[in-house]
Amino acid sequence: MTKPHIRETAVHTLWPVLVLERYFSGADAFNAELVQTAKRAVEATGVSSGPYYFTKRRYNIFSSERGPAIRQLGRMVCEAVRDLLKEGYKEDQSHKISLSGWPMWQTDETAVGAHHHAGNHFSAVYYAQVDPPRAGYEQGIGGSLSLLDPRPANRNFELAGARRYHERKTRSFAVKSGMLIIFPAYVVHHVPTYFSDGVRVAFAVNINLQHPTLTETFVDEDDLAP
Ligand SMILES: [Fe+2]
Repeated sequence: MTKPHIRETAVHTLWPVLVLERYFSGADAFNAELVQTAKRAVEATGVSSGPYYFTKRRYNIFSSERGPAIRQLGRMVCEAVRDLLKEGYKEDQSHKISLSGWPMWQTDETAVGAHHHAGNHFSAVYYAQVDPPRAGYEQGIGGSLSLLDPRPANRNFELAGARRYHERKTRSFAVKSGMLIIFPAYVVHHVPTYFSDGVRVAFAVNINLQHPTLTETFVDEDDLAP
């Protein structure tokens, strides 16, 4: 009996989570200015992280801070969103982009629990300063950005021999200053405990899009007053 030959094979990538990862060089002065901005914001609001606290204070770093570095950061995020839409989603329309952002100031032994930003289209994080982590119980992933696979039945990460459940379905990005990462807002993510003698200063951004053909047809509720 002759062994059948493989005639044709196709491997399809289904239901991918598209993530944009971008690094900027020559950003030292820019990052230093952002760190100062974050410091001011944290001191002014009394909170070091979390959209809920800033939202309560109606705080949006892009409207509350008008310095050139923040405006530059906003433009960098918008450009990256357009690149992700074009390269990842093959979207050639020019969407209207709205941003809401806040600083995250992390010190030794801080973590961010698993959460998502559903209600927005995309989430972005830019890292202005990430001092090297010390070894901790989560050595190697402490302070990383860990995205969880959103497919509830996916168990494929077990094949990689991961020891702990949360690692099996997680893609961890080792973050460093000058890094921008953008992912769909529905993706659950967390920051494993950061052990460091320094700080981890990031800016989180919620991104909302309006399709160009819809933008002009929406009517605000306020405009419907009798
Ligand atoms: Fe987040």
